[in-house]
Amino acid sequence: MTSKVALLNRITHYIVNRKGKQMRPMFVFLAAKLLNNGEVNERTYRGASVIELIHTATLVHDDVVDESNKRRGFFSINALWKNKIAVLVGDYLLSKGLLLSIDNGDFDLLRIISVAVREMSEGELLQIEKARRLDITEDVYYDIIRQKTATLIAACCSLGACSVKPESEDVETFRKFGELCGMAFQIKDDLFDYGNESIGKPTGIDIKEQKMTLPLIYALNNCTKKEKRWIINSIKNHNKDKKRVKEVIAFVKKTGGLDYAVAKMLAYKDEALVLLKSYPESAYRSALELMVNYVVERKK
Ligand code: IPE
Ligand code: IPE
Ligand code: MG
Ligand code: MG
Repeated sequence: MTSKVALLNRITHYIVNRKGKQMRPMFVFLAAKLLNNGEVNERTYRGASVIELIHTATLVHDDVVDESNKRRGFFSINALWKNKIAVLVGDYLLSKGLLLSIDNGDFDLLRIISVAVREMSEGELLQIEKARRLDITEDVYYDIIRQKTATLIAACCSLGACSVKPESEDVETFRKFGELCGMAFQIKDDLFDYGNESIGKPTGIDIKEQKMTLPLIYALNNCTKKEKRWIINSIKNHNKDKKRVKEVIAFVKKTGGLDYAVAKMLAYKDEALVLLKSYPESAYRSALELMVNYVVERKK
């Protein structure tokens, strides 16, 4: 990652020293191992690195988009160096990731990764479009989280498979498996926003950003017309008013929005586990099952 530009070096050091959970590379390795009797190869390693680089790039950009000042328990890049620099550093990380594939001729893996990058950008933009109009439906919510989050985890699993079994049908099965995990993963992330636990990044910012997630969508679909008007008005005109936002959150809880989202998350998790069960039992299958359960039980 070293560059001749000292500022860039300082920032990449800062990023490398604050690692996240590194779940995505774990999905890459376990998918490859399950399909190849525990053996991985150089392609698997490179693929895992590219994915984590690209993931990190999207987080740096996401914090600009969401005006979020915390990430992985410390200040976000935009909080410390401002938006201009965060945008450029995100691009740098993205291109470094893509070059790692290109320089090694991993073009099949590069295709999987590039599709995910395109989908993520589209998903983030669709989310902004819906936040502006406040007209999101449950189906559109699933489209958004599939694009912005699930496609990258799908890419992890299909890439892991593709690194060891390039032409096999397992590549598609694992893509689907990763997608289901990713759906559960983002519903969990959206549930965190309704909590008060310390998760290393801000909570309670979705409504402030006029981002309507599953608990809120459910509440809107299951309340009176008057209550609905009050919620929409709160989000449209009082989204920066902390007390009002707290009232909306309390209403969502009272209406059963969190319980509903938990049920949907668990349904995705179960679907992922069913897919895994189509493979014979092994240490790697068990490890992936642990990962799937971790997605929904994690504390950050
Ligand atoms: C955060 O992903 C971004 C989402 C898609 C919700 P992670 O929770 O995996 O982030 P790190 O890498 O562990 O910080
Ligand atoms: C996830 O979006 C980041 C991407 C998929 C690019 P969010 O904005 O919901 O995630 P957090 O909560 O900031 O990690
Ligand atoms: Mg964010
Ligand atoms: Mg975001």
